[in-house]
Amino acid sequence: MEIKIFDTQEQLDSSAADIFVNLVNQKPNAVLGLATGSTPIGIYENLVNRFKQNKVSFKAASTFNLDEYVGLPPESDQSYAYYMHKHLFSHIDLPAAQIHLLNGMADDAEAECSRFETLLAKHPLDIQLLGLGHNGHIAFNEPNDQLSSRTHVIKLKEETINANARFFASADEVPTHAMTMGIGSILKANKILLVVRGADKAEIVKKALTGPITTQVPASLLQAHAGVTVLLDREAGRMLG
Ligand code: GLP
Repeated sequence: MEIKIFDTQEQLDSSAADIFVNLVNQKPNAVLGLATGSTPIGIYENLVNRFKQNKVSFKAASTFNLDEYVGLPPESDQSYAYYMHKHLFSHIDLPAAQIHLLNGMADDAEAECSRFETLLAKHPLDIQLLGLGHNGHIAFNEPNDQLSSRTHVIKLKEETINANARFFASADEVPTHAMTMGIGSILKANKILLVVRGADKAEIVKKALTGPITTQVPASLLQAHAGVTVLLDREAGRMLG
C-alpha cells in the first residue's frame, strides 16, 4: 500500500487527477470506477480542466459508479447520478452509453444490482476511486458482522444518514437505503485509489490502514489488495506514525 500525504488540497487533487489522466492516456478504453461525496469534487474539477486543455480524452473510456440512493431519480439534485453529471460527465467527451450508473428508481432494486454486477464482470475496473466514511465505510458498505461481496441493496446506518444529511434539507429526507458495489466488486479492481481529507477522518484512516482487517471497518479490507494507493491531506494523515 502506497500512502502519500499532501500539504494542500490542490496538490492532492492534482496528483489524483494525474493518476487518472496517465491511465487514460496509456489505455484510452480504460474502465474507471468513480465515487461521489465531497472528497472527489476537486479531482473531477482537475479532470475537466485537463480535458479542456486537450490533455486527455474520455471518448473510449467507460465508467462505473460505486453507489446510488434507492428512491432518488437521476434528476434529483441529491442523487449521485445528478452529482456525476454536474461535476464531471456534462463537461467531458465521455459518451453517455459508456457511463454506468445504478438506477435508484428501478422497480426491482435487487435485479438492478445484478444487472450492474453482470456489466462489471464484463468490464473489469482498471481503477476504482474511493472516499472513506467516518465509520469506515467504502461506497455504502457499512460496518457489519458480515459484508456482501457483490453489488447489493443496503440499509444505511444512522451515522451515515446523519453525515449525509448536510446535502439534504433535513436528515428525514435522506433515503434509508442505497445500492452499492460490494467489497468483492471493489477489490476486483486492478488499482484502487483511496482519497481522504480532514481531521475528522484521522482516526478512521489510522484504523482502516493500520488496524486489524475487520468487517467492522470495511475499508480495512483494502489492506488485502496489492494495488492500493492512498492520498491524504496532512489532517487526515496526522495519526499515522
Ligand atoms: C458517502 C458515499 C461514500 C463516500 C462517503 C464520504 O456515504 N457513499 O462513497 O466516500 O460518503 O463522503 P465525503 O467525501 O463527503 O466525506
